[in-house]
Amino acid sequence: MAGAVRTHRKCTMAKIGILGVGNVGKQIARLAAAHGHHVLLGNSRGPQDIPYDIVRELSENGTRSTAQEVVAESDLLVVAIPLVNYSQIPQPPAGTIVVDAGNYYPDRDGVLPELEEGRTSMSELLQAHLPKARVVKAFNHVPAAALTENVQPRGSENRQALIVAGDDPEARVTVGALIDEFGFDVLDIGELAEGWRVERGTPSYMPRFNKEELAQKVGEAERHHTR
Ligand SMILES: NC(=O)c1ccc[n+]([C@@H]2O[C@H](COP(=O)([O-])OP(=O)(O)OC[C@H]3O[C@@H](n4cnc5c(N)ncnc54)[C@H](OP(=O)(O)O)[C@@H]3O)[C@@H](O)[C@H]2O)c1
Repeated sequence: MAGAVRTHRKCTMAKIGILGVGNVGKQIARLAAAHGHHVLLGNSRGPQDIPYDIVRELSENGTRSTAQEVVAESDLLVVAIPLVNYSQIPQPPAGTIVVDAGNYYPDRDGVLPELEEGRTSMSELLQAHLPKARVVKAFNHVPAAALTENVQPRGSENRQALIVAGDDPEARVTVGALIDEFGFDVLDIGELAEGWRVERGTPSYMPRFNKEELAQKVGEAERHHTR
């Protein structure tokens, strides 16, 4: 992994589950393994269809599992699947931190009026589906490749920043520590209901921004932007 770094603060998570082993899931799996976490990988078709390149790359730091096992056994779960399949995600143990890296694409996910009309946001939908989990929105507003290409040690000048949003402050801190450990500054934007500010079509969606710039772009977001 080009440019992988370790930073000083260490997230204490032992097993990080990755649900969805595609562009984003693979990248977060790489970061987690590079920082000493054990990674559980799960998809919809079963362990035999998890891409072998990432299994080989993670070696003993990764385990192929069923989606049910990943959800049940992870200390922290990352959801990196299309929104259209969120209803298929099994319920994790109460209190599990679930990181939502997803985005809404109507061509892929179907048109959802509650999102189109700004009545809710992507990660609030996931929280509604997983009511006993602690959902934190993160990683969604950058291209998958940036997650390993743009990592920098803490204190680096102009370090890229990623947001966290979630209704549980402790969960936001935990995910923020993980993001910092991976190699990014963290911008806490508050509760899940603020997550629309970094969804598709907003100023912060996809470009590389440092923390100060990201805060400005988050503040410039306007609702009803998606279509
Ligand atoms: N690509 C990016 O640059 C990027 C950046 C930020 C956010 N995102 C968002 O992140 C999410 C994933 O994007 P991606 O590009 O990584 O997608 P992707 O490459 O198409 O991979 C999707 C993965 O999700 C799995 N999956 C689908 N339904 C599932 C289910 N019900 N249970 C478990 N696994 C399931 C698929 O496994 P099977 O093949 O077995 O179904 C596949 O491994 C999307 O919401 C996307 O909008 C993408």
